[in-house]
Amino acid sequence: MEDILPGDSEKWQWLEKKTRSFFGSRSFCEIRTPILEPTELFTRSIGETTDIVHKEMYTFKDRGERSMTMRPEMTASVARSVLEHGLLKTSKAPALYYTGPMFRAERPQAGRKRQFHQIGAELINLTREGEPYYADFLIIKALADFLEHLRVKNVRFRLNDLTLINGAQAETVRAQLRAYFENHKNALDPDSVYRLDKNVLRIFDSKIPETRALIRNVPWDAISPYSADFKALVSSLELLCPGVTFELDRTLVRGLDYYTGVVFEVASGALGAQDALAGGGRYDRLYEELGGPATPCTGFSIGMERLLMVLDKNSPSVHEQMNAKKIYVLAMVDDVLVQNDVRNAAMRLCEQGFYPIVPFEVMNLSLGEHLKRAHKAGAAFAVIRGDTEAQKNGWTLKNLNTREQTFAGSEKELFSMLTLKTEESHLL
Ligand code: HAM
Repeated sequence: MEDILPGDSEKWQWLEKKTRSFFGSRSFCEIRTPILEPTELFTRSIGETTDIVHKEMYTFKDRGERSMTMRPEMTASVARSVLEHGLLKTSKAPALYYTGPMFRAERPQAGRKRQFHQIGAELINLTREGEPYYADFLIIKALADFLEHLRVKNVRFRLNDLTLINGAQAETVRAQLRAYFENHKNALDPDSVYRLDKNVLRIFDSKIPETRALIRNVPWDAISPYSADFKALVSSLELLCPGVTFELDRTLVRGLDYYTGVVFEVASGALGAQDALAGGGRYDRLYEELGGPATPCTGFSIGMERLLMVLDKNSPSVHEQMNAKKIYVLAMVDDVLVQNDVRNAAMRLCEQGFYPIVPFEVMNLSLGEHLKRAHKAGAAFAVIRGDTEAQKNGWTLKNLNTREQTFAGSEKELFSMLTLKTEESHLL
């Protein structure tokens, strides 16, 4: 579990801000749920035999001897909350998003933490007559658009359809899968032999090379062929998300039991061994299993640590993008009123999406020294209020890269100049 320190916390704020503006503009509403939930919520939804429930949950007895768990993911918490507060009565199809910390006791390595953060989105109860993959299309497109909005490049989606394996015909399909693995039982690792009886799909989580070879050779077309609707979904995505690669992968079953239809994962070449940036899929039975009405749903979650790792390698990086909007705001007179003007202007700049830096306790520095500091902090502009500016109720605006200097006769003029100039920057 990691601290997020100054220098890094700004990047997190940047990403959180981007998340809010993206999902807010697409009519998703934010939901925040508690970190602690009754353990049963996760065992029932994620599944007893999954690695998450079996090996990775932080579970303990609280003071009332109730078994509690620190959420390993939020889809189940969102379902619990939507049902508990009757949100389906006030909205036929809520679209929700969230950000926050999740907890899994995995073996830590680069990109794999015990406390990590996710951005997630869920489309709840959204259906369209005759188009079973309509909401899946919207959610996958939203994920691709969000990554594009953040300028994440070389995005690869892997998709699979679990409709037959986990849907109405599940028993037949799973029996066929079991028969296939039974025939090759000698080549299976011991964990997979255990899973064969408990939950055949969990064999697909195995990393053992011999088992992986068996998994690759499952006769899928005989056991569970792709439907025409699923193939149409993939074609629409290919058409409408240029620059994104979509691959079909029959071995993708995902490590959570609640999926009943399309599942997908996003990988990024910029990540190392832990290359899954995001994952999601359709889960149509979760709400019923938690005691609610039949509620078809689809959603995804993105790992924020991994996303920031990818963004760091991007050009322009998050820091470069932030620096283009970083403004050093400076009072060059030792006067309380002027300093107040500067602080108020900085606050409004912040509200407008800029990143102001207001130096304090530095009245003894010369303008040149201030500008050096501003440059070092990565600011693109300095906004200065000295005696002359204060008399005219205006501001001097200095581009710290070109050294060009202009005068703005009012705060309004200053803001529109800054907006124009930062928009011209190739970094934004
Ligand atoms: P998940 O695939 O378990 O899905 O997690 C989503 C993402 O969270 C992963 O792709 C990864 O980027 C990140 N992540 C997971 N574990 C760790 C870890 N230990 N350290 C760092 N990052 C990690 C879900 O959680 C589902 N709730 C997705 C979903 C939403 N399905 C439907 N709706």
